[in-house]
Amino acid sequence: MNNYIQKNSNYKKYVIDFKLQYFKPHASKIEKTFAEEISSSLNRTSKFISPKFFYDKKGSDLFEKICSLPEYYPTQTEITILKKLLGELPSYLDESFRLVELGSGSSVKTRLILDVLAQSQDVIEYFPIDISEILTESSEQLLSDYDGLHITGIIDTYEGGLEFLKNYDDKKNLIIFLGSSFGNFSLNDGYEFLQKIHSTMKSGDLFLIGLDLVKDTHILESAYDDLRGVTGEFNLNVLSRINDELDADFNLNNFSHHSIYNEEEQRIEMYLKSLVNQSVIISKSNLLLNLRKNELIHTEYSHKYRLPQIHKMLDDVGFKTKHTWLDDDRYFSLTLLSKN
Ligand code: AVJ
Repeated sequence: MNNYIQKNSNYKKYVIDFKLQYFKPHASKIEKTFAEEISSSLNRTSKFISPKFFYDKKGSDLFEKICSLPEYYPTQTEITILKKLLGELPSYLDESFRLVELGSGSSVKTRLILDVLAQSQDVIEYFPIDISEILTESSEQLLSDYDGLHITGIIDTYEGGLEFLKNYDDKKNLIIFLGSSFGNFSLNDGYEFLQKIHSTMKSGDLFLIGLDLVKDTHILESAYDDLRGVTGEFNLNVLSRINDELDADFNLNNFSHHSIYNEEEQRIEMYLKSLVNQSVIISKSNLLLNLRKNELIHTEYSHKYRLPQIHKMLDDVGFKTKHTWLDDDRYFSLTLLSKN
């Protein structure tokens, strides 16, 4: 055990074998946060539930399902762009890199990048950072497919994971944040988060970010309100999770999925709409929640960007843009950055 890990006592370390280990904050820390956050975010006039709570096992599976829906263009489009850029990536990789992924995402994308690293490295270290334990499942398969792979999973929030990575060692990191997950942040929180990434990076590290672009409203709205209702199921699932984990009694039949594109704010806004006047008890949050008919609980923003906005934002934070890649329809973007 190295000094760094001994000092970092917020985490419990689980060693599965010499190629797979993961770190998880002590259980009490997670549970307390969830109950408290729900208590304060629902105990207000404009109620919300943070989208980071979507991803329990069921929610992660539903999100995977969303990614293969015909209406949900971001996943396929980003994969198309990745295939294009990967031929060029080696020219930016001067030595060996560790892959750090924020949100362990779809393993299709991870694999494309591992394939590139594997061309020039016998040993590849992969650090997925994800709040959901789904990474412990996908890891087994990755290890059996990639010989020199070593996985260190960090089961925590992105912020916690970045803090973990900071000053970890002096190996070069290629940090990836794909799928426009960044779009969940408000403008201010987004800036703050980018600053956190920027300050976590050492000079020589690289950062690849995938961001969704402004496009026709109908295309955007269909992507977040699909015909098969999977997005609705995904949205409502957060209430089941609260039922299970916080001893609540939400009746899912009393809610519906509601999502719209706010053109001015350049974002999809998702809500859970209360279909009746109702009261819900959330025991572990110590809350009796009263909802009016048609009252909305906000669950997610998914911001869309224009290229000049992307470049300004990244530039403001101090990143140096190496390159931005787009698909032919200009639906989605991938930008490679260095610290300075
Ligand atoms: C995982 C945040 C990128 O905003 O497109 C998909 C989540 N929500 N459908 C997105 C999501 C509804 C997704 N991100």
